[in-house]
Amino acid sequence: MPEAGEISSEDRVQWIYSSTNNQELAERYDEWAREYDDDLNNTFVWLAPRMGAETLAGHVAKDAKILDAGAGTGLVGLELQRLGYADICAMDLSEGMLDEARAKGCYNDFRQMALGGRLDFDTDAYDAVISIGVFTPGHAPPSSFVDLCRITRSGGHIVFSMRPDTHVELGFKEEQDALVESGAWSLVQVTEPFHPLPKGEPDVMHQIWVYQVN
Ligand SMILES: C[S@@+](CC[C@H](N)C(=O)[O-])C[C@H]1O[C@@H](n2cnc3c(N)ncnc32)[C@H](O)[C@@H]1O
Repeated sequence: MPEAGEISSEDRVQWIYSSTNNQELAERYDEWAREYDDDLNNTFVWLAPRMGAETLAGHVAKDAKILDAGAGTGLVGLELQRLGYADICAMDLSEGMLDEARAKGCYNDFRQMALGGRLDFDTDAYDAVISIGVFTPGHAPPSSFVDLCRITRSGGHIVFSMRPDTHVELGFKEEQDALVESGAWSLVQVTEPFHPLPKGEPDVMHQIWVYQVN
């Protein structure tokens, strides 16, 4: 099995997506962590952190306590900091990615954890959750949303990016709609599709979804 440094930036994405479980995924992100920012900023031109943070800012006060779920190396945290947010926890599966996030200086808490089941956070712990590039094939599953609703206070917001095709094909639409039906959250905004990786994967589209927890 190749290691992160032995393959091209483009092939690394396939290598990540071919992970078969959370442990393998975490190990591969650990290996990629030091080169992730260079690949995403320069080879791919990753625009979703900025789009996500700016969309969140349309709904969330600047003194909010925010969880960046699947924070990775902290690209979303940097965008939130630029917009004036200061109380942000970085949570991720990969300690290697969290180490890079620590060096950014935009978070005040760091937690290694996996989305998908019960999270080690108190009920109503956050005013808002943001999750960018995490609800994607082989990463966090649709079942993640239930506990994100639990840890977000009533009236708080959950903001995430997703590919329109993934939304339907991987069961996210079904889960998102079921949580609307059950009254757990309400949809307040979904952006038009945009190109999050104009240089690296020009055919890929994302949308930013914003729900308010009831
Ligand atoms: C494509 S990166 C996005 C990182 C960051 N949000 C950004 O926009 O640059 C996906 C991140 O999600 C994390 N991740 C994948 N599955 C996860 C899960 N089930 N729970 C928590 N983090 C997960 C990975 O470790 C990785 O850091």
